[in-house]
Amino acid sequence: MKKITKAVIPAAGLGTRVLPITKSLPKEMLPIVDKPCIEYIVEEAVAAGITDILIITNRGKGVIEDHFDYSPELEASLAKSKKEAELKTVRAISDMANVTFIRQKETLGLGHAVLRAKAFAGGEPFAVLFGDGVITGKVPAIKQLIDVYGEFGEGVVGIQKVPAEDFSKYGSLKVENIRDNIFKCTDMREKPKTIEEVLSLYSIIDRVVLPARIFEILERTKPGVGGEIQLTDAMREIAITTGMTAVEFVGTRYDLGNKFGFLQANIELGLQHPDTADQLKDYIKTLAAGLV
Ligand code: UTP
Repeated sequence: MKKITKAVIPAAGLGTRVLPITKSLPKEMLPIVDKPCIEYIVEEAVAAGITDILIITNRGKGVIEDHFDYSPELEASLAKSKKEAELKTVRAISDMANVTFIRQKETLGLGHAVLRAKAFAGGEPFAVLFGDGVITGKVPAIKQLIDVYGEFGEGVVGIQKVPAEDFSKYGSLKVENIRDNIFKCTDMREKPKTIEEVLSLYSIIDRVVLPARIFEILERTKPGVGGEIQLTDAMREIAITTGMTAVEFVGTRYDLGNKFGFLQANIELGLQHPDTADQLKDYIKTLAAGLV
């Protein structure tokens, strides 16, 4: 099996759940302490052995490209004022991986966004990391999926249990446990409307590894829930034919696509960041003491 070295990060959604900020700032650029959300995601991919990354953007998201480009003026100024550490940090962002961009010209859904990566994948299997889902932990979440790719089925989905009130926000899936946190997935359904439509307690969360066959399926996938071309609908064809593997990944996931997830990420990662940990801890204690 060829090593998986390519990753696609769809980042072309409209981010309507985090308006009004997303009117002018892509949700993928929302900061968590001092880094934009998408930088954590690129770091996760790189830590998993990914060398080539395609970020799917759209109009108004050029700031993502700037973030992964060199910044000659800033770098010259940091060099002049001998801010070596800052210079190193700024330069490292651009040199982390071979990052390229393509635009999704119309926001027609996640499946449509992933289809833009057909030429990039060049017939090879590839990883997909949703641009608004940050997952922290010892082993990169996408590595946990890559490690089982090809073992039990043709693709791998990252899964987590979600509270019942959240079933309708994700893709639900039918699973049978194989061993530990690994499951065989034989069916899936995007955003189930009623509890009867839910296939298990598990939902598809933010990370998948796909065979290149997905593109041929996406090309004929009709719009589904919300009138969008859904990645889940295309993956379902693989699940019900060859079967897919599902991995209940170990890690903490922050959904930057909603306001509470953004706050959670900043509080929890702020408590781990050396520049903010102590001050934030004291602040939260004082604040919490005054809450009723
Ligand atoms: P979401 O469903 O969270 O994105 O898609 P959204 O449409 O921005 O969200 P809301 O509901 O309007 O707030 C998950 C990922 O897929 C990308 C998003 O950028 C996000 O990273 N996406 C979604 C695309 O790239 N293109 C699309 O057409 C839709």
